[in-house]
Amino acid sequence: MKALVCFLLLLLLLLATLPSPTRSFEFPAREMADLIDQTCRLTPFYDLCISSLRSDPGSGAADVRGLARIMAGSVLASASRTLDRIQELLGQAPDPETERPLAYCAELYIPVVKYTLPQAIEALGKGQLGFAVYGLSDAGKEAQACEKNFSGLSWSPVTDVNEQVRDLVDVALAIIKILQRSF
Ligand SMILES: *[C@@H]1O[C@H](CO)[C@@H](O)[C@H](O)[C@H]1NC(C)=O
Repeated sequence: MKALVCFLLLLLLLLATLPSPTRSFEFPAREMADLIDQTCRLTPFYDLCISSLRSDPGSGAADVRGLARIMAGSVLASASRTLDRIQELLGQAPDPETERPLAYCAELYIPVVKYTLPQAIEALGKGQLGFAVYGLSDAGKEAQACEKNFSGLSWSPVTDVNEQVRDLVDVALAIIKILQRSF
């Protein structure tokens, strides 16, 4: 009998020290921030992922699918900036050696910015993940093809922007992979 009382007292003590199960629901804002962190940890470029997602005011309340859409939007913004840069360089009357690959790059980026990425973002919104993966992968391939076209020259004026597009694509694809695993 004494042993039982002891046991029950001990049990009560133990229960009192356990964290309340409702505690984790008290900080929804912090949980959302953690979702961004957890998601970015599963991508190849953590810092780029964090800065891209946090710069969007909608990211705090987004689920993983929302984060994938925001990241695809970052890819589009980056590709669009790259195309602007290419067209700006073309407008500065470069020598023919540089002009040829720049013009080729513009040809590659125009459909990516106008059609491929907007369609990929729309597909993400509808949950058509395969189509979104296809469009994003294509954007990455075009950035690579653009960069490669300068390989005959000693340098490329668009290396940094092409690399950013590719890195953002890799981040977006990694986030979509999380979604594909959870279905
Ligand atoms: C650049 O692209 C053009 C057009 O497709 C191609 O003919 C050329 O071989 C490419 N140059 C390099 C260095 O990849």
